[in-house]
Amino acid sequence: MNIIITGAAGFIGSHLADRLLERGDSVLGIDNFARGTRENLAAALTNPRFRLLSCDLANDAAVQAVIDPLVEGQGFGAVWHLAANSDIPAGVADPGVDLKDTFLTTYNILNLMRRHGMSEIAFASTSAVYGEHKEQLVETLGPLLPISNYGAMKLASEGAISAAVESHFKRACIFRFPNVVGSRGTHGVIYDLLGKLSGRPNTLEVLGDGTQKKPYLHVSELVEAMLFIWDKAPDKIALYNIGPEDEGAKVSTIAQTVVDVSGRGVPLQFTGGDRGWVGDVPRFFYSVEKLAKLGWRPRMKSEQAVRRAVEELAVERGITP
Ligand SMILES: NC(=O)c1ccc[n+]([C@@H]2O[C@H](COP(=O)([O-])OP(=O)(O)OC[C@H]3O[C@@H](n4cnc5c(N)ncnc54)[C@H](O)[C@@H]3O)[C@@H](O)[C@H]2O)c1
Repeated sequence: MNIIITGAAGFIGSHLADRLLERGDSVLGIDNFARGTRENLAAALTNPRFRLLSCDLANDAAVQAVIDPLVEGQGFGAVWHLAANSDIPAGVADPGVDLKDTFLTTYNILNLMRRHGMSEIAFASTSAVYGEHKEQLVETLGPLLPISNYGAMKLASEGAISAAVESHFKRACIFRFPNVVGSRGTHGVIYDLLGKLSGRPNTLEVLGDGTQKKPYLHVSELVEAMLFIWDKAPDKIALYNIGPEDEGAKVSTIAQTVVDVSGRGVPLQFTGGDRGWVGDVPRFFYSVEKLAKLGWRPRMKSEQAVRRAVEELAVERGITP
């Protein structure tokens, strides 16, 4: 199948590209390289079934000038839309960031798909659409009131996709990710903590009081789960939480794992408060029952996924004993 991946040079997009190429698909990767890198796609770029294109997907004129001529008549059937802002605090400070990179990218991709008769979309959504809840996050939960502009623009994107499926497309998969970790990570708590350690500080600063607790999934299992849903879910709009089957890992545990794996032996220093930043949901736990019923279950628990990711990222960034 001919597939477009947006955000292909990013953390998850590059792992997805590798896996789709392994399956025998042809892939057109698109990225504006705001966060993604060509290095993430080193293996994919050696494959003749892979092409990489630079384009700002929030700019419709650029999409029409750069992408339209390349996809016209080329038999692209599906888009895996992963391009988005991945810096949640940046979108809280300036809502325009998420309007542009999280929502307009979706809006422009849907219009591109209509122009070229593409009929299937897979979308990287997030737990952030749920907002803050004490109860388990299940796909049927509502009303949904996100507490970050990132979550709001992801929810708006889900809505735009739903409407587009009703009027134009055959099918959509909407995946609500937990915290995803692993090699090639471009952001997130492990990435930030390792970055701080690279400056060889006397203490490791940890945002919040360390009790924040969220589910973590390794990127290898995330990609496996997405493809499983894509292949098996019968629904016209297949909306699934993807996550581990536990209640998550605490930030204090993650920080200690980073210190242990890096061998830097510094004490943790918490900045205090129940959350890392405005717009952060400090605690949530996912229901992944719907996905288990479809037939996919993760093998790693949150803390195992975190440990593996810390080991991978510490080597990648040269922060080892
Ligand atoms: N990593 C996580 O824990 C997590 C959790 C929930 C949802 N998600 C979603 O998964 C997707 C992939 O996230 P990731 O962790 O790989 O982040 P990432 O930042 O590594 O990847 C996103 C990619 O999109 C690109 N991009 C951003 N704006 C663009 C634009 N206007 N035009 C073209 N390209 C643009 C970036 O350069 C980057 O390469 C995102 O949609 C993100 O919201 C990720």
